[in-house]
Amino acid sequence: CNKWAGSALMQDEALAVSIAAAVVEACAPRNVPVTLKMRTGWCQQHKNAVQLARQFEAVGIQMLTVHGRTREQGYKGQAEYDTIAAVKAAVRVPVVANGDIASPEKARDVLAYTGADAIMVGRAAQGRPWIFREIGHFLATGEHLAPPLVAEVRRLLLDHLQDHYQLYGEGTGVRSARKHIAWYVRQLPGGEDFRQHINTIDDCQTQWQAVADYLDALGQRMDRLPATTAGKDADAQEQEGLAA
Ligand SMILES: Cc1cc2nc3c(=O)[nH]c(=O)nc-3n(C[C@H](O)[C@H](O)[C@H](O)COP(=O)(O)O)c2cc1C
Repeated sequence: CNKWAGSALMQDEALAVSIAAAVVEACAPRNVPVTLKMRTGWCQQHKNAVQLARQFEAVGIQMLTVHGRTREQGYKGQAEYDTIAAVKAAVRVPVVANGDIASPEKARDVLAYTGADAIMVGRAAQGRPWIFREIGHFLATGEHLAPPLVAEVRRLLLDHLQDHYQLYGEGTGVRSARKHIAWYVRQLPGGEDFRQHINTIDDCQTQWQAVADYLDALGQRMDRLPATTAGKDADAQEQEGLAA
């Protein structure tokens, strides 16, 4: 966001650390661990993630996640992992590496390069929630899982839509579900035409049924998603204005 919050706080280390300390103190009586996520710094000239990481650890933060871009970058350019590696080397608490991880190979490479304890996947999971098991399987075995069955994707997406409608209600739900549907069908045969069709539908039941019909038809043609379906391409997404 554009407020004085989230990664914007990296400009004021003392304030950021005092907020972290206050949260840790408030959570201590209930034994709730406090974790923290940040970027590499405010801007290219002020990459202060390492200094901040040490201070956050000192006030009791128990895990740190670092998105390998500065606040100024927004979502432009590539995430870099040198700063994440430096944070990992500077603290003892677990460090999670984040930014542009969209494949099992990238997950392996980022883990190896940074020495991080874990990775976080954001945009690449949009429309591709099975990416986590794909990465987990690859890290454990060095082999790729088969793409998901169309029947599984159908069940997942239709359940997702039901939850979405319940959470947001009919009016907002049908509109805000469109982008999720688009992420799932992106790169599927006929996906772009289907996305355009979905954008013309204004009620949940018709939208849900259209998705069911589309995936039924796809299931007649193939058992599994095409192997090339990589889901959302994180690099292609520019999401300026997000908090971190
Ligand atoms: C829709 C959306 C909402 C996000 N909201 C937050 C947020 O509230 N707090 C936060 O720290 N990061 C937020 N992020 C940033 C992600 O956690 C992540 O740091 C960023 O997308 C880079 O990782 P990725 O390349 O795997 O997407 C959001 C990202 C997206 C796409």
